[in-house]
Amino acid sequence: MIKIGLIGAGKIAETFHLPAWAQVVGAEVVALVDPRINVAKKLGREYGVCNIFSTIDNMLNSIKLDAVDICSPHIFHADHAIRSLESGLHCIIEKPFTTDKKNALKIASEAEKRGLIVMCAQHQRFRPESILLKSKIDAGEFGEIYHVNVEAMASRGIPVQVANSFTDKRLSGGGPLIDQGSHAIDIAWWLMGCPSPSSAFAVMHDGTAPKMGTTKNGAEWTVYNIEDFATGIIRFKDNKSITIRTSYFSNCAKDIFSCEILGTKGGITWPDTIITKPYGNNVRRKKLKIEESSLASVAELSHFTSLIKGTDQAIVPLQQSVELIKMIDGLYESATTEQIFHF
Ligand SMILES: NC(=O)c1ccc[n+]([C@@H]2O[C@H](COP(=O)([O-])OP(=O)(O)OC[C@H]3O[C@@H](n4cnc5c(N)ncnc54)[C@H](O)[C@@H]3O)[C@@H](O)[C@H]2O)c1
Repeated sequence: MIKIGLIGAGKIAETFHLPAWAQVVGAEVVALVDPRINVAKKLGREYGVCNIFSTIDNMLNSIKLDAVDICSPHIFHADHAIRSLESGLHCIIEKPFTTDKKNALKIASEAEKRGLIVMCAQHQRFRPESILLKSKIDAGEFGEIYHVNVEAMASRGIPVQVANSFTDKRLSGGGPLIDQGSHAIDIAWWLMGCPSPSSAFAVMHDGTAPKMGTTKNGAEWTVYNIEDFATGIIRFKDNKSITIRTSYFSNCAKDIFSCEILGTKGGITWPDTIITKPYGNNVRRKKLKIEESSLASVAELSHFTSLIKGTDQAIVPLQQSVELIKMIDGLYESATTEQIFHF
């Protein structure tokens, strides 16, 4: 049985990771770490985890593990990953992989040096609609994919978690571009076949979201020093491109997380899987049927377990997670300098 220590007993741990780990065959969560010790103890009781720690060091010094599942705020991902790798543990890390490329490269070099597995939790890749579209794209059904437009837009969607961890740049590393963008750019790029980026250009805007406030559910944010809105284009070799628009708080017509994928022989939308194909001088559209399958989070954690056992090939290779952070870094740098960023 693979023994997992989960770091950060917050919302994603409670709603996705712990319920999903309970369904993964061959692995179990045996320890939880969170400075909010009472919250961790409560979750521990619910999921039968009796080793509860307030710091990662206490956990690493007290219990024998095979791997960690890092669900802490963004700014801690790199430190938690490096300490765990130094203790000989495999790591699955929630998105964003890290808050900057320097730390992404550091994790990759530690993992390589020690022969350990590091996987970023890009669960969108494990959705049944993503798997179906990826297999059709890779089989050449839509020709060459030359452009994806991805939208991750919310009208009133500021994520308000513990201690402003998404709205205080010191904890989050950035706003919707690094947070929602980690999923949005990743799914667009993966469906395209992960081409090599050559340049990036972005614009950010502030002044729409209140600097403090309360959500519909009564959660409060008291620090808000991230971008309100970001838009950008990443250019790849062979004239391929991704465009993105993302915001937590805007006056957009509808809340949306979707991709429109353009290929030389057809177009597709994700995640609603509408296919557009040439038909004489016109086009025909149809919706693809998606088969029922296990939850993306269960599939993702089962895959990580298989990687540790050496029975599967990486669906989210570490180098791709490093490359994704380089793209996000490049977009932020372009927006700040008002220049095209060259990779
Ligand atoms: N994959 C997804 O769709 C998705 C969705 C939501 C969040 N996330 C990611 O999951 C991570 C956590 O997000 P969340 O929504 O659960 O946030 P959260 O604020 O609810 O939880 C974070 C937890 O980490 C704890 N923590 C803070 N400092 C710590 C430390 N030094 N060591 C250990 N624990 C510490 C906090 O007390 C809190 O319980 C983030 O990286 C976030 O981007 C992913």
